[in-house]
Amino acid sequence: MTDQVIGAGKDRVLIFDTTLRDGEQSPGATMTHAEKLEIAQLLDEMGVDVIEAGFPIASEGDFAAVAEIARRSTNATICGLARANLKDIDRCWEAVKHAASPRIHTFIGTSPLHRAIPNLNKDEMAERIHETVTHARNLCDNVQWSPMDATRTEWDYLKRTVEIAIKAGATTINIPDTVGYTAPVESADLIRRLIAEVEGGEDVIFSTHCHNDLGMATANSLAAVAGGARQIECTINGLGERAGNTALEEVVMAMRTRGDIIPFDTGIDARKITHISRRVSAVSGFQVQFNKAIVGKNAFAHESGIHQDGMLKNAETFEIMRPEDVGLSATSLVMGKHSGRAALRSKMKELGFDLADNQLADVFVRFKALADRKKEVFDDDLVALMQDVMEVD
Ligand code: KIV
Ligand code: ZN
Repeated sequence: MTDQVIGAGKDRVLIFDTTLRDGEQSPGATMTHAEKLEIAQLLDEMGVDVIEAGFPIASEGDFAAVAEIARRSTNATICGLARANLKDIDRCWEAVKHAASPRIHTFIGTSPLHRAIPNLNKDEMAERIHETVTHARNLCDNVQWSPMDATRTEWDYLKRTVEIAIKAGATTINIPDTVGYTAPVESADLIRRLIAEVEGGEDVIFSTHCHNDLGMATANSLAAVAGGARQIECTINGLGERAGNTALEEVVMAMRTRGDIIPFDTGIDARKITHISRRVSAVSGFQVQFNKAIVGKNAFAHESGIHQDGMLKNAETFEIMRPEDVGLSATSLVMGKHSGRAALRSKMKELGFDLADNQLADVFVRFKALADRKKEVFDDDLVALMQDVMEVD
């Protein structure tokens, strides 16, 4: 990947957020109307380029939410999803048309496994793609087309269908790795080959949409960008079906932190990441794992003595991003049995106890005994410990 991006210049990559569509499709993640509006507003404010607000044909509720988000959005393009049939597309348009910048996203499964479901042969499916993308484009200037399960579709057929969609008026071609099957090298190669070989490929934006079944969604998305994709589809906290989708916070912070080898900009205000992550977790009911990159509780927390000592001297020793860059107020030094004297002294000072060296030695022994009994030693525990020490003295 390095070779392919070095010297590429700092291009803009569009961030397409699908928390409210693919994210909400995860079993148990359904959001209320008000919750969807709140998350859409936060996405709009943080600088997401495209918000996929829902699947308007899915229910009256989803239709109403997409329409209201479309009316309220101020910056982002508002997109709705539609299967490859005229009724879905009309319903989608009815919802998104209220936006200052609307988009219709229509898709069909092109791999052998997915073609078998509607029982269409290759020619029949090609005809369906032509008809539905043409219809969408007659309604809306901004049309995205996705060959679902693209990464398991035969190359010749993928190329053929992408060309049909482009000729019919699609302006963005999204390449979904629907089941999280691809690997980074392959992801980059596929986009590169599509751009090079597809007729009309230079006139559209290629997009990547990855799932995380093998834990490679972020790597695959960034590799696709190295191959020439200029839109990443992602969700907050990686919310999404099965193992989830590419996490917005991961791709955005990877591009910011490693701009030297992934030289791309996004329009995202990363300082809003922590807040939106917490809100999405709250409204979806999906807790964020403690060690989740960027937004996990432990992403900027340190317990071991060596790490805490290093952090107190120079934060760059054990952190490659600053907590404030993602909207956290500070790194947290968690007090536990792995913590050392430097961290204890610093924490005690924060709590108002300036310990001399001889006091620190005594308090440290008591602290370790307490830490062996408790997983985490909280501020209140330390204050109580100091009260005991002072009473004995
Ligand atoms: O994963 C997928 O293939 C999708 C499409 C509808 C784009 O979510
Ligand atoms: Zn998906």
